[in-house]
Amino acid sequence: MRDVDIVSAGSVVVCFGTRPQVIKASALLSALRAQLPTVAIDTGQHYDYELNALLYQQLDIREPDHCLEVGSGSHAVQTASILERIEPLLERLAPRAVVVIGDTNSTLGCALAAAKLRIPVVHVEAGLRSEDAMLAEEINRRMVDATSAVLCAPSERIAERLRTERLPGRIEVTGDIARDVLVRNLSRAPAPGTVRAVDGSRGFAFATLHRAELTSDAAALTRAIGALGRLDMPVLLPLHPRTRKVVENSGLDRRLPESVQITAPLGYLESLSCTRDAAAVVTDSGGVQREAYWLGTPCVTVRTETEWAETVSAGANVVLPPAEVDRLPAVVREQIARGRNWDRDLLGDGRAADRITRVTAALVATAQTQGQR
Ligand code: UD1
Repeated sequence: MRDVDIVSAGSVVVCFGTRPQVIKASALLSALRAQLPTVAIDTGQHYDYELNALLYQQLDIREPDHCLEVGSGSHAVQTASILERIEPLLERLAPRAVVVIGDTNSTLGCALAAAKLRIPVVHVEAGLRSEDAMLAEEINRRMVDATSAVLCAPSERIAERLRTERLPGRIEVTGDIARDVLVRNLSRAPAPGTVRAVDGSRGFAFATLHRAELTSDAAALTRAIGALGRLDMPVLLPLHPRTRKVVENSGLDRRLPESVQITAPLGYLESLSCTRDAAAVVTDSGGVQREAYWLGTPCVTVRTETEWAETVSAGANVVLPPAEVDRLPAVVREQIARGRNWDRDLLGDGRAADRITRVTAALVATAQTQGQR
C-alpha cells in the first residue's frame, strides 16, 4: 500500500471499495488523472482476491494511495468505521472535491464525511431509485444524492426522475460509466469457449446471484438454484463470497443440480466473456444486467424490480420475482425466443468518464475561484 499524501492544489479524491466500484473506478481514475491531481482511496469493503486485487491487475489500476481496510461488518459498523477512518484523511488531503460511485456503505460513508467537512461531493450513478425505500442500497443512494453537489445521472430518464426531487445538487446527464469500462476492455475478454467449465455444446446460461433478498434466505436461494438446474442447458454460476457462505452453511453445495457448475468469482474479463457468449443470463446483479443488454444477450433478473428500466423497455431484460422463480425455465425460453435485436444505446455511450471529469474539473475551478480553500 502506498500510504502517501498527495496534497497538491486542486486535488480530487475518488472513493470506492466494492467489486463493481473498483471496476468503474478503472475508467474514472484514468480520465480524472489526465486532467487533475487525483487521490484514490479504497475503503477495503470487499477484500477477497477475486473481488479486489484480481480486478486491479486485470484493469491495470494503480495501487490506491490509501486503503481504509474496513472489511466486513454490519451496515452500522461498516459505515461508522469508514466515517471514522476517512475523516482525518480528508482533513489532511483537503481535496477540492470527493467523487463517490454507486450505493454502497463505502459510498455513503465517504460522501457523508466529505459533505460534513464541506467538501463538494460528485455522485457517479446518481438518481437510481427503487420501489423499496427501506432497501439498504436505496437508503444509501437517497442520502448520498441529498448531500451531493453534482449528481451524475446515467441516463436522461434517470435525470428526469431526479429533477422531480428538487435536491440541492446540480444534475448532469453523464451516461453510464459501466459502459466505458466495457468498451475499453471487451477486446481483451477471453475468446469464446475458453473460460467456462461447462459443456456448452448446446449453449449455456451464465448466472450470478448475490443480493440480500436471496442470500439472507437459504430456502429462497435453494429454490433459485434448483430452478437454474431445470434450464434446458448447463449453467455456470460463479459464487460471490456472500452466496458461497449460504451455499456451504446450508449444505446446498452437496446437493447441487448436476447441470449447475459453481466456481469462484470470475475476473471482470472472464465475466464479460461469459455474458457475451451465453445463450441467456440469469442474475440479480445491476452490473451484469447492463452488460448483457450491451452485449446482446437475453437476461432474466431474479428480483422484484430493477433500477435499470431501460434494459426492460428495450426488451433485453425481464424481471422475475424470487417468489416466482419456479417459472424460470419458461421465462428464459421466452426471453431467448424474443431475439436479440434491441436498441443497445439507451444507456451510456462509452464517454461517461470524460463527462464526469469535465464536471468535476468545473467544480474544482469554481471552488478555486471562490477561494474556498
Ligand atoms: C450490487 C449493489 C452494490 C453492491 C454490490 C455487491 C446494486 C444496485 N448495487 O452491485 O451496492 O456493492 O452489488 O457486490 O444493487 N463480475 C465479475 N465476476 C463475476 C461476476 C460479475 O467480475 O464472477 C462483474 C460483472 O461483470 C460486473 C460487476 O462484477 O461488471 C457487477 O458487480 P456485482 O458484484 O454483481 O454488483 P452489482 O449488482 O452491480
